[in-house]
Amino acid sequence: MKAEVSAYLRPAASGECRIVDLDLLADGVRVSWNDGHASFFHHVWLRDCCYCEACGDSYSSKRFFVPGDMPLEPTAREAVIDGDGALAITWEADGHRSRFDPAWLRQHCYDERSRQARRARPTPWDAALEADLPRVELASASRGDAARMDLYRKLRDFGLVVVHGAPARPGFIRDVAALVGEMGADTSYGEIFDLTPSSRVRTMGNTFRPVPPHTDEAFRYTPPGLNILGCVRPAKKAGESVFVDGIQAATLLRRSDPDAFSLLSGHAHSYHRRHDDAIDQQARMPILSLDDEGCISGIRLHTRASAPLDLPPDLVPPYYAAYRQICELVMARTNQVHLVLQAGEAVIFDNHRVLHGRGGFEDSARFLQLCNVSREGFHERLRLLALRLGLHTEAHQVLGGGVVT
Ligand SMILES: [Fe+2]
Repeated sequence: MKAEVSAYLRPAASGECRIVDLDLLADGVRVSWNDGHASFFHHVWLRDCCYCEACGDSYSSKRFFVPGDMPLEPTAREAVIDGDGALAITWEADGHRSRFDPAWLRQHCYDERSRQARRARPTPWDAALEADLPRVELASASRGDAARMDLYRKLRDFGLVVVHGAPARPGFIRDVAALVGEMGADTSYGEIFDLTPSSRVRTMGNTFRPVPPHTDEAFRYTPPGLNILGCVRPAKKAGESVFVDGIQAATLLRRSDPDAFSLLSGHAHSYHRRHDDAIDQQARMPILSLDDEGCISGIRLHTRASAPLDLPPDLVPPYYAAYRQICELVMARTNQVHLVLQAGEAVIFDNHRVLHGRGGFEDSARFLQLCNVSREGFHERLRLLALRLGLHTEAHQVLGGGVVT
């Protein structure tokens, strides 16, 4: 059956890549491309991926075909390049016909080189980033797609971007949040949280004290995705914001002490937040997170919310030594970016990767605000904008993966 190919199923103009030769083998099809690349697709993969109208497509969640509908080892009766240049297969078991657009096929090629090329890789950073912070202007990012894409790339790669040029009125972070997603209930602290020194001192944020670098709400299984920290009024002096790339800190630990790294990535840390009888949040998750290939993809570290460890007895002493090391790495000035946010400036940062803190101050007029949007929402916006701009490679990148060390 010949199905129409939707925008998602057809990631690039099919004229850009052509199948020049096919080789039907016992367990799959070898495809040769006009640019010299060769791919191999297993029959089982091809049969499962058939997106004809009868099988349905998983992009729209209207997939009718289930794994039990095919033999464990399907075989093909015939594989040809059809009149439109597509791979057309007739299956042995039931004579079903599948047709794969060449651009779609190339997009999903799963040889090692293609798989690695699809992965967006974070750019680790340390204090040197201070001299050249990723920055965008609110007005241009709000108006134009190209400036918006520039912002998205910076946030994707560095996990942090400074947005400047906003009117410095309370609530302006709503305009900044709107650049990257929907403000939502992705937090335990309300839609917009005022970071002002006050009598409301349930959190360190509402004091004059320095706050060590941390990721927010580590005591939840799903901490806020992107944080947006905006400055309505800076302190007359001091009160600088501090940022640390958790991926960089974890990379340094992996190099200097692989055993410590394994303890922090392979065992759960305990976190909690309790107030009176009204709040009791708890989560047990590793401090360091790895992607499916073992690459460092994130951090969850919040010393103030650290709960008594619940680990096998023999691991407790070495775990504490490892915990101390990662804390010292994020406290090291060489790993920190210091930034005094000016009125009308905000920082958007990935709370699953970038730790934040601040220096102490004395000015009671200092007024910063914080809000969150979901990380998934940002990734979705990035993909959709890239697709609209014809940036097919970026529209189909695998996001959220780790750094190669
Ligand atoms: Fe915080």
